[in-house]
Formats: sequence, C-alpha cells, structure tokens
Amino acid sequence: MNICSCSVLVLALQIGLLNHLCSADPTDGFTNVPLTDANFELQKPYVIPLSERYSYENGVHKLWVYADDKPHDPNSHTQPRTEIRIRGLDYSSGVWQFEGYGFVPNGTSGATIVQIHGASHGATTIILRIYDGDMRFYNGDLVTTDLYDKWFRVNLIHDVDGGLLTVFIDGEQKFQHKDQGPGDLYFKCGVYAAPSNISYYMESRWRDIRIYRK
Ligand SMILES: *[C@@H]1O[C@H](CO)[C@@H](O)[C@H](O)[C@H]1NC(C)=O
Ligand SMILES: *[C@@H]1O[C@H](CO)[C@@H](O)[C@H](O)[C@H]1NC(C)=O
Repeated sequence: MNICSCSVLVLALQIGLLNHLCSADPTDGFTNVPLTDANFELQKPYVIPLSERYSYENGVHKLWVYADDKPHDPNSHTQPRTEIRIRGLDYSSGVWQFEGYGFVPNGTSGATIVQIHGASHGATTIILRIYDGDMRFYNGDLVTTDLYDKWFRVNLIHDVDGGLLTVFIDGEQKFQHKDQGPGDLYFKCGVYAAPSNISYYMESRWRDIRIYRK
C-alpha cells in the first residue's frame, strides 16, 4: 500500500468512527432475539372475535378497542384492551429492550400503547400512555409530545439489575425512571384503556417489533 492510499484509509476510518459516534443507536451493544408468530399472543375483549379488533396487513399490526368493550378475560375486572403480549420471553433479570414503530390516529386518548407487565410492587413496571397526542408515564410525567398521525420509533430499555427504565422516541432519549423491582416481566403493545379520560375509540398500529437483550 502506498502512502496516499494509506492516508485515504485512515481518513475513511476516522469518518466511520465519527459517523458511529454521531449516530449512537439505542440498540447498540444489544443482541436481537429472533421472534416467531408464537411470540405474539393477542389479547382482546373476550366476547368478540379477534378479526373485529385486530388486523395484520403488509407487516402492520392494527389494534383497536372501544371504551365499553369487555375485558380480555371473563374473570378480569380490568379496562378493555386489544394488545400484543410478547410471549415466551418473560424476564426477571438482565437488560432487555423493546423496539417497535408505532402509529396513533388523532382522537385516540387515554390509551396505553406500550407497557412492561409485572413488577415486585404493582401490576406494571411502566405504562406509556397517549393523552391528546402526547405520551405520558402513566397519567403523569410527559415523555414526548405531538405523536398523532405519524409513525414514530419506540425503544424501551429495562435494566432490571440496575432498576432503570429508559425510553427513546425516534432514537432520542426522552425519559428515564426507576423501575418497580424485578418480577415476572414482559412487554406489551397495542391499546389498553386508562382508568379515566379515555376516548370512545382507541387504536394503535405497530410494525417491526423487535426484542433485544444484553
Ligand atoms: C386532531 O383532530 C382535531 C379535531 O378534528 C383537530 O382540531 C386537531 O388539530 C387534530 N390534531 C392533529 C395533530 O392533527
Ligand atoms: C382527566 O382530565 C381532567 C381534565 O382535563 C383532569 O383535570 C384530570 O386530572 C384528568 N384525570 C386523570 C386521571 O388523568
């Protein structure tokens, strides 16, 4: 190799390194866990056929529910939901990450669109809920604003060992919170009605759902 091509190589390496530093991705350092259909369990109002609350076309899961729908189980007294429950990847330690591209139509409000179910205190570790186009942690802290009618990327990292949750929207870190302790933990996405201030119709769409771990 002559001196000229060598300095070109050094320059190329420097640009590569800069690109890498500038475009740090929430999934860096994580390993993708391959998913099959068996990892996608659908929950929907128990009296209604799945096709009346869920469709899957061109890689897009569309889930919807109405405020006066029944719960997902006749023995449950929870609010109505149509949700994908990631099955077979329950965790209780380590560092796990949910990734998905979500879409919420204008009008859907008071709907949990992503959650980690399970905790040592309470039923859930985190609930990400849409109110009037904004995303909130439960009905409190604002995570991000202005999500109606557009695709957005969600990355949710749960460091169980460190007790920490981190939320990225479109690759940008937006929110961090302590978790609720370890438990039988799993990811869900879709629509799950909040206790109050809910729209009659709730919908979210999801594509490219992936799970990663460290
Ligand atoms: C949502 O719909 C309402 C009522 O039609 C409208 O006033 C509002 O501007 C819409 N919001 C967005 C972000 O499009
Ligand atoms: C419901 O909305 C009302 C009016 O916007 C607000 O005052 C109240 O705090 C909300 N309740 C919950 C549980 O978010």
